Amino acid sequence: MRIPLIIANWKMNYGVEESLSFVESFQEITRAEKVEVVICPPFTSLDSVASTLKNKVARIGAQNCHFEESGAFTGEISPVFLKELGCTFVLLGHSERRHIFGETDEQISKKVKAVLKQGLTAVLCVGEKLEEREDGKTWQVIGAQLQASLSVISPADMKNIVIAYEPVWAIGTGKNATPAMAEEVHQSIRKWIDENKGRTVAEGFRILYGGSVNQDNAASLMKEPDIDGLLIGGASLKVDSFSRIINDASIL
Ligand code: PGA
Repeated sequence: MRIPLIIANWKMNYGVEESLSFVESFQEITRAEKVEVVICPPFTSLDSVASTLKNKVARIGAQNCHFEESGAFTGEISPVFLKELGCTFVLLGHSERRHIFGETDEQISKKVKAVLKQGLTAVLCVGEKLEEREDGKTWQVIGAQLQASLSVISPADMKNIVIAYEPVWAIGTGKNATPAMAEEVHQSIRKWIDENKGRTVAEGFRILYGGSVNQDNAASLMKEPDIDGLLIGGASLKVDSFSRIINDASIL
């Protein structure tokens, strides 16, 4: 019922030339069947990647955007421009945006609304820091992040939202959450959606896991009933490992 979704977050890696050489080999060896794939390159590579992805093995997404459509916001990118380039997904509230660049729940909430207004899908990233998990505050943190960004979103608009649960302590560290740890949080997120947006929305809603996903742990994470896909950083930069994760997910 929920089509698995696998998203590559290239972060600040790969200029135009490297992006194109990745995409050329990637589309030769990837068979995405019954799986949706999205690649989020840096802004500067979006256009070239979009025009090179000819056989539609993947769609393109952006890693961030501003909440206004235009104006005096030096260095920012409007969701309108992303739509014009053919982007269909936008990552929002990634932990690096929250913790390195100080993005607040209020800004993220405005961004979610701005992205939905353009008819794009918002990938809302949530997750706890290590000390929060150790203090037993995992759900308190995630529940507050969901409340801040989704309380004003109508049940109908939830079809254009995906949540990515990414524990901060698992991102880029090589320490992934075990499938059981991730599943526990995913179940709580689905329960929150059920209680706040209704059973039908919750049942069709996709919740991704991210944080040190690689070709060895991807399949066991994906087997959990409430893990509907993956948001992948490091392992999405290597054609072989990213393709293998997708090809494996296609036959699950
Ligand atoms: P990672 O990054 O797979 O390198 O841990 C995931 C992310 O930040 O989205």
